[in-house]
Amino acid sequence: MSRDAEPQPVRLSDYRPPDWLVDTVHLDIRLDPHATRVIARLAMRPNPDGREGSPIVLDGDELVLKAVSLDGTPLAGTAYSATPSGLTLFAPPQQPVTVEIETWLDPSANTKLMGLFRSSGVYCTQCEAEGFRRITYFPDRPDVLSVYTTRVEAEREEAPILLGNGNRVEAGEIDGTSRHYAIWHDPWPKPSYLFALVGGRLDKVSDDFLTATGRRVELGIYVEPGKADRAGYAMDALKRSMRWDEEVFGCEYDLDVFNIVAVADFNMGAMENKGLNIFNDKYVLASPETATDADYANIEAIIAHEYFHNWTGNRITCRDWFQLCLKEGLTVFRDQEFSSDQRSRPVKRIADVRLLKSHQFAEDAGPLAHPVRPSTYREINNFYTATVYEKGAEVVRMLKTLLGEEGFRAGMDLYFDRHDGDAATVEDFLSCFAEANGIDLTQFALWYAQSGTPELEVVGSWDAATRSYRLDIAQHLPATPGQEDKAPMVIPLALGLVGPEGEDMPLVLDDGGNAQRGVLLIDQPRQSFVFREVATRPVASLNRGFSAPVKLTSNLSTDDLVFLAGHDSDPFNRFDAAQTLALAHLVAATRARGASPAPSATPLVEALGATLEDAALDPAFVAQALSLPSETDVAREIGRDVDPDAIHAARGDLRRTLGDALRPLLEATYPRLAPFGTYAPDAGSAGRRALRNACLDLLAATAAPADIARAVAHFEAADNMTDRLFALSVLAHGAPQQREPALAAFYARFRDDPLVIDKWFALQAQIAEPETLERVRTLTNHPAFAMSNPNRVRALIGSYSSANPTQFNRADGAGYRFIADTVLALDGRNPQVAARLLSAFKSWRALEPQRRSLAEAEVRRVADTPGLSPDVADIAARSLS
Ligand code: PHE
Ligand code: ZN
Repeated sequence: MSRDAEPQPVRLSDYRPPDWLVDTVHLDIRLDPHATRVIARLAMRPNPDGREGSPIVLDGDELVLKAVSLDGTPLAGTAYSATPSGLTLFAPPQQPVTVEIETWLDPSANTKLMGLFRSSGVYCTQCEAEGFRRITYFPDRPDVLSVYTTRVEAEREEAPILLGNGNRVEAGEIDGTSRHYAIWHDPWPKPSYLFALVGGRLDKVSDDFLTATGRRVELGIYVEPGKADRAGYAMDALKRSMRWDEEVFGCEYDLDVFNIVAVADFNMGAMENKGLNIFNDKYVLASPETATDADYANIEAIIAHEYFHNWTGNRITCRDWFQLCLKEGLTVFRDQEFSSDQRSRPVKRIADVRLLKSHQFAEDAGPLAHPVRPSTYREINNFYTATVYEKGAEVVRMLKTLLGEEGFRAGMDLYFDRHDGDAATVEDFLSCFAEANGIDLTQFALWYAQSGTPELEVVGSWDAATRSYRLDIAQHLPATPGQEDKAPMVIPLALGLVGPEGEDMPLVLDDGGNAQRGVLLIDQPRQSFVFREVATRPVASLNRGFSAPVKLTSNLSTDDLVFLAGHDSDPFNRFDAAQTLALAHLVAATRARGASPAPSATPLVEALGATLEDAALDPAFVAQALSLPSETDVAREIGRDVDPDAIHAARGDLRRTLGDALRPLLEATYPRLAPFGTYAPDAGSAGRRALRNACLDLLAATAAPADIARAVAHFEAADNMTDRLFALSVLAHGAPQQREPALAAFYARFRDDPLVIDKWFALQAQIAEPETLERVRTLTNHPAFAMSNPNRVRALIGSYSSANPTQFNRADGAGYRFIADTVLALDGRNPQVAARLLSAFKSWRALEPQRRSLAEAEVRRVADTPGLSPDVADIAARSLS
């Protein structure tokens, strides 16, 4: 046996069904801060689809085994072998057996926040993906489904609340002691990653929900003592989610209880454990004073997301972790649709596409690119990515676009029908849509297998003589790690031909065909389409609603884009046309820096001016239009030899230009949107605040004293966190004189509120000045900061690495060094958070040579450090590949 053997990658093609199944699991858990005892009784049987005569092989992770018995008989040392990471029972009888295992663990020492850990004294669990094996030895894979009964016992003082999956079937005192217990039973077979348990001192918000078939479900949201008054919005979002899933997908809840627990220390956003969702408290707690409009929208979306997993994830789960997108992409699609129905559909689409481009397109363009369904992994924790989640959702959205509303619903119905109770695959999912619609989805399935963002090049030409409009379309999928040659994809391209008055012209294809529902099917490397009866020169509105997650270039002129920004009937493309103008300007201005004169911003000013003037538009939409592509967007568009300082300067120039040129409109709009009445988080009110703040921001970009004074007044008059934080950020970024007093006032007001102080950390970490590095370092010693809390790390250090391009990419490399040092310091404590921080280097290859070599050296230094976690080792190795 070789020491330090590299863990072998796991391959999709190596999948084999489990050799042993577990029908029931009885857990008896005695909670103790340092010595928690776990007794697991597993009713196991050989899997008829497994290998005959196999030993019982169970996973473990840092476990201490105290006893193991088979059918009631303690096993002799020769009958099994145990290490902290596995337990093998040799030569078991090939028949149903009962395995009983006793393990002990220390929840207080669990800094990885996987398995059973404590957050502010509250016992809680996190088992996805492979955390259950940190609680007991188990076949910890999603295709082993069991019925769980959990008895949990604790000191009544320490943990008056005891929660588990499913329904509570018994509870009571343990006579003559200060301890009590509860027994929870979940009748639905589930994989181990959906197991959960909570014990602690928590306040509860209660409500109930009457399902479509008239069953009453008790709802509970548990929060830190004293914070119940901040859980109301989450409860409201939960009830709306439950109703929506019945109405739109026919999915009804299936237990008598649905509980949510908010904890302060959590690696991710939230977790869909059956009947007992556990949340990062950032995505539960909200009040007008402490949460921004964006926080409210996130809470609504994540509450919905975890709830929707009950059907897409829990009732139908994943066969193996390669199928992660089966639950995540689909559930993101569902939560996006929910938010679209609750709010403004176009504005939600714009926000989602912005996120997709900034995170997923960036991932696809760098060394960490991977398919929506990866075919190999070294550490599954590193695949909870924008590609699996956001691009995975886009793939489902494309299915809907291709099949139409009814065809899509027919496929979903068949999926729920056929696979309820299964651990399914992407193939199972696609087959349902293919069968329900009588179509072949073989080529479409490439979206799951080929990584990289497809590029579409579109050339449109109008011929007056034949009154025809021709589109020549070429698709190209760039090479990505491990994938040199690719096959053409199926791309649903929604489009319109916009006439001179902004009207949509009929789409009559030359071959007599119709562009069904305005969607062209692109499935070859090159294709041409000719539209007939096009009497006047149209402007093509391409990829409407962002119907496909592709990078599209076309021969539309600047005038065409200005026209679309003002007239397209598709709101997404109105927005996108203005963004395309802005992006082109920023790229040209970045390239021109120092050399030639800056290009003219007049077309963009014209387009944005018209948008601001159009009283019929939703303020939230106008706010999106006014918000320029980010520096990262510009960097991605430039693609190579990126100089973040040049981009920052160009973007600053453009903001000033816009502030000056649009001043009269901005000054008129700002007071028109002044708040009236008390704060409400609904989309309409949020949109008014967003636009008012966008005006404030562009005006302040000019740095004129009156505009800075307006921002100060805005900050001081704010009666809600959205306005207060926005004004603070305007001052912190654009008014060095006012920055410190404003930051101090904000801190003084919210010093006891960690989630608000995170905003204060994040904002300071994003200041685009060389002093920021020292500021961030100093703040790591602030009493409110803690390396042990992922939210704090992400707010302060994650904001520096991923939301401050000029400072992370300092020309002297000090930003890279700081992040690499932090990754190494964090790795021993929490590998997942460390690995995510390291992924800030994902675009290093696109940098100009000096920064590129400095960044590479730091990633290499991390990679070469002995004793790395698999999480960090994997990101480091792939980043360098
Ligand atoms: N499954 C969770 C979600 O999407 C995410 C998660 C993954 C949480 C792993 C914790 C650990 O919704
Ligand atoms: Zn999810």
